[in-house]
Amino acid sequence: MAASPKGVPNSTPIFAAQAEGALVTDVDGNTFIDFAGGIGVMNLGHRNPDVVAAIRDQLDKFTHTCFASMPHEPFVALAEKLNAITPGSFAKKTMFVNSGAEAVENAIKIARYATGRPGIIAFEHAFHGRTMLAMSLTSKIKPYKYGFGPFLPDIYRLPYPYAYRWHGSPPSDWKNEYRRIFDQLFSAHVAPDKIAALIIEPVLGEGGFVAAPPEVLQTMMEICREHGIVFIADEIQTGFYRTGKLFAIEWAGIDPDIIVTAKSLASGLPLSAVTARAELIDNVHEGGLGGTYSGNPLACVAGLATLDAMEKLELGKKALAIGEETRKRFSTLMQKTIRIGEIRGLGAMNAIEFVVDRNTKEPDKPTASAVQKKCYEQGLIALTAGTYSNVIRTLMPLVITPQQLNEGLDVLETVILALGN
Ligand SMILES: Cc1ncc(COP(=O)(O)O)c(C=O)c1O
Repeated sequence: MAASPKGVPNSTPIFAAQAEGALVTDVDGNTFIDFAGGIGVMNLGHRNPDVVAAIRDQLDKFTHTCFASMPHEPFVALAEKLNAITPGSFAKKTMFVNSGAEAVENAIKIARYATGRPGIIAFEHAFHGRTMLAMSLTSKIKPYKYGFGPFLPDIYRLPYPYAYRWHGSPPSDWKNEYRRIFDQLFSAHVAPDKIAALIIEPVLGEGGFVAAPPEVLQTMMEICREHGIVFIADEIQTGFYRTGKLFAIEWAGIDPDIIVTAKSLASGLPLSAVTARAELIDNVHEGGLGGTYSGNPLACVAGLATLDAMEKLELGKKALAIGEETRKRFSTLMQKTIRIGEIRGLGAMNAIEFVVDRNTKEPDKPTASAVQKKCYEQGLIALTAGTYSNVIRTLMPLVITPQQLNEGLDVLETVILALGN
């Protein structure tokens, strides 16, 4: 590892050699069950044959033109597809960039341009990426923000509806509580007519897989509508059937003005998208958005094939079944160890939060780290999460077989119970 800096770490020493579906084989020939999916990128599984064929086919045609200098069909076809499948029956347009962070940056640029306002509302426990603006919106200090300031101004941070860690007991009426929180923000910190956008993950990703109650998201949407604030749903980790629906925001039945996607969109090829109300995104002057690799043709054909295969394989149904089985196993496990403070999840996006003490809820990061390490030693790639790094999250490919799922859950259970109480 002498060639790469310690700022870019690796949580396992496994070097990948081959991957298929929900399995990864390393250079020594060991095969692992993948509960990480390249951090939520492999919802469709490794090397889906339709995706591989589409990339191969495109390789034989051309690999790059730069859309700004010479447009191409894969870009347009994928933009049309995303405009059609994202929530909201209004006219939409989609632009492409390369990473989740870049999509977030562009969504904010579009909202600021359209409203002429500077302010952005973001949430505690949020993760929106590592570029300067996305990192400024992110809410976890170590390792993401520490030492990298100063951050961008005009960001107003509100609590995420994280019931388990709510200050005091969680409210019985989330709707009223969020009305109160926004009233306080608008009277004590910033006028609503200075706010361009609100950006939220419908389920916290890096923050520990906490699903916002639908009524909170609905209330936020109402407030956005009242004040002309652009509602941005960050579906980078939650999108593409991870929660059982194509997009997690659909559980709340609301139509965001802008939706940002990446990760599982193109099964591992670097691609992210900003899908926005046409009237919003079309405010931006010609040349104001884009990038050299924006909508690379290989990535776009991979995206098209991915979305088709996801529909064909009914990934939403698979995610719900995975979620049901996982939560059933987690709740049995929780009865056997006092190290677990909470289990939670939506669809196939599930988590175990470790605590030192169930009463104080003191986060237990060492247990989460030990679980991750011991899992890979026993053939399971697991991921941590959470502002306090005390959560294990599941991001297995949704094509995982029931047998592989059970085997993976067995490893997780064995490893956790072996740590004792
Ligand atoms: C919700 C969310 N937003 C943004 C990002 C940033 O994406 P990228 O790492 O592709 O820049 C991530 C990555 O984990 C994410 O989970």
